Amino acid sequence: MELFDSHAHYNDEKFNEDKEEVLKQVYKAGVTKLVCAGYSLPSSKIAVEIANTHDFVYATCGISPNDISDIEENMSQNLELQLNQIEELAKNKKVVAIGEIGLDYYWNKENKENQKIVFKKQIELANKLSLPIVIHTREAIFDTLEILKTSSVINKGIFHCCPLNLDLIKEGIKLGFYISFAGPITFKNSKNAVDAINAVPLDKILIETDSPYLAPEPKRGTRNNSANVIYMAQKIADVKNLKLEQVANATYQNAQTIFKLL
Ligand code: NI
Repeated sequence: MELFDSHAHYNDEKFNEDKEEVLKQVYKAGVTKLVCAGYSLPSSKIAVEIANTHDFVYATCGISPNDISDIEENMSQNLELQLNQIEELAKNKKVVAIGEIGLDYYWNKENKENQKIVFKKQIELANKLSLPIVIHTREAIFDTLEILKTSSVINKGIFHCCPLNLDLIKEGIKLGFYISFAGPITFKNSKNAVDAINAVPLDKILIETDSPYLAPEPKRGTRNNSANVIYMAQKIADVKNLKLEQVANATYQNAQTIFKLL
């Protein structure tokens, strides 16, 4: 059985010491493809480096809503400079999406308008490069959907670590996006997990770890790694009454489809 971790951060400093070893282990554990997601210019560069040196790793490039403080001082000029560099990076063959991009009103409430500008500009960049987008949205569901409805997102994309909110999930699917489930679906206190999983048809689900964060049950509280993506597959299999292999295969195919790896 092979698994596809659609979102992890081996570009995070928590993997500085032993990245090579961890990547070897997750491959051995059956994770034969994974996407290392950028969230800023420096982290996107590292993501591309990792992808270029590991056959089974792909990368995304982008600036997350929580990483725009250095752009904001001289917004239009700095944004253009950084986006030009993201664009150059994203021309690399191993780059499969622009992301993670979006809106986060949980960590940053003061700069909503700037977050929207940076999000929209990167949707335009994804369209220009014929890439899908990887969306980060937290406590910003209405505005996120509004932007997705009013901007044309030509190659669609993925709600990464999708909030377990049924309205968001239903609207997201209607707009043609994939839903990627992470550790929270396995948490014992997660109220909406079953309804959220049931709201997504099997051909629209991806699974991810968001490593090194958000380790699933029963690994909660430890440094996460891609081998744990099997717990998300198992949870979905339990809820949908399917075999683990069926979920592994479907999520693998779905990831290959949206990231155009077929
Ligand atoms: Ni992430």
